[in-house]
Amino acid sequence: MLTKEYIKDLKTNGNGAIGKLVEQHKTNSGSLVFILESLGQLPKNFDSSFLPDLTTHKSSDVRLLAVKNIGKLADEQNIQLLSYISKHDNDTTVRREAISSIGRMRKEIVKPYLVDALQDEDPKVVCQAIRGLLVFKGNGVDEELKKLINHENEMVRTVIYKEFFATQKTHKNQPHTESYDYLKNVVVNADTIETMKLLEDESIHLTFTSPPYYNARDYSIYPSYKAYLEFLADVFKEVHRITKEGRFLIVNTSPIIIPRISRSHSSKRYPIPFDIHPYLMEMGWEFIDDIVWLKPEASVKNRIGGFMQHRKPLGYKPNSVTEYLMVYRKSTEKLLDWNIREYDYKTVQESKVADGYETSNVWKIDPCFDKVHSAVFPVELCKRVIQYYSFKNDLVFDPFGGSGTMGKTAKSLGRNFFLTEKDETYFEYMKSKKSKEIFDSRETKFLSLNEFKQTIK
Ligand SMILES: C[S@@+](CC[C@H](N)C(=O)[O-])C[C@H]1O[C@@H](n2cnc3c(N)ncnc32)[C@H](O)[C@@H]1O
Repeated sequence: MLTKEYIKDLKTNGNGAIGKLVEQHKTNSGSLVFILESLGQLPKNFDSSFLPDLTTHKSSDVRLLAVKNIGKLADEQNIQLLSYISKHDNDTTVRREAISSIGRMRKEIVKPYLVDALQDEDPKVVCQAIRGLLVFKGNGVDEELKKLINHENEMVRTVIYKEFFATQKTHKNQPHTESYDYLKNVVVNADTIETMKLLEDESIHLTFTSPPYYNARDYSIYPSYKAYLEFLADVFKEVHRITKEGRFLIVNTSPIIIPRISRSHSSKRYPIPFDIHPYLMEMGWEFIDDIVWLKPEASVKNRIGGFMQHRKPLGYKPNSVTEYLMVYRKSTEKLLDWNIREYDYKTVQESKVADGYETSNVWKIDPCFDKVHSAVFPVELCKRVIQYYSFKNDLVFDPFGGSGTMGKTAKSLGRNFFLTEKDETYFEYMKSKKSKEIFDSRETKFLSLNEFKQTIK
């Protein structure tokens, strides 16, 4: 019987024993895969003469493992074969592995083969070749690699940009973890764009917001849907500017429906999250996740009633029990690890998310109803976003503050907040909550735009 131990014994005994075993099982792909997978590290005197034949086996799994094992030999004599496979195998995983195997040799001789592979039509093969060539960065390969800055594939362009064109940002203003005191725990009663214009670049760590819905409520009347989207784009462009490198924006929206004007017209549905998405990508936000906020069916408007009566196809209108939390990161060539490393050990420890966190992208949370504001965040929603996407003492921002749920929750979680809210009624409502200790009256400042301007040094 084939066992790992048996294969290991044969491998170390030498004498071409593995080759003979492979010959016995050549018609059984499963056994071949098992043998090839069990080989592990290959001894110096390993007789690998059976491997090239397997690179033409009908099973792509066998071919892949044959190429992998050839790669382990790191033998220059195999370059031609690997290069041939990288061009002609009909399985792209095998072709990529062949380039990876060439790259792992890390010798001058591999350069032309890897440069050749930069022309491959599979971007993953190109990325593999780039990886192999980067070993020689600064040593005769830079010009070839830099040419790829205009490559058709975005992953290729990103890697090349990061390696050769990204300039180190100098944070002349502030360390990554800090924020200005004049922004901490402040609510400004003004238009959010006008207010943001007063802020320095890279001032905030996280934005979580629910924008006004298109013409759904009194505070959100726009001349056209296009004008609405452009307004949101202007807001998120400013948010992008004031967001620190590599930090997050989470936008809560959902498609909305504008009721019909009479029985002879139909209502119109606007897919806001999908329509705003291209604007966000364009301005330099990287898409990270789509989280679905799932509400109990009893809590949402009943749309299915008519269908329940008539049951006619085309007239199906399901109850909308979801909203989106679209998660974006300010594009950077830096990895998340870089962001995390900016914080001291104590802050990272204290910010760790406790047990009971949500493991899926469907968050079941009851909506919240408020007697003054008609569209407030549930505290639980804010809690999750703040805990999963910010560190203690960070500055979190909501450009559309509303009743201030984000600020209040941020504060309770040891973060600082900055809110803007245009509507005086809601601003006053937030202020009135001071007495109920929702905002700590000692620290929260409620300011007009002019008062805010005075505080900026
Ligand atoms: C959907 S509500 C946000 C509710 C908030 N998430 C909460 O928990 O209470 C949107 C808010 O944005 C405000 N708003 C609309 N346009 C604004 C603007 N240009 N600048 C600042 N606030 C604005 C509205 O007055 C409204 O209170």
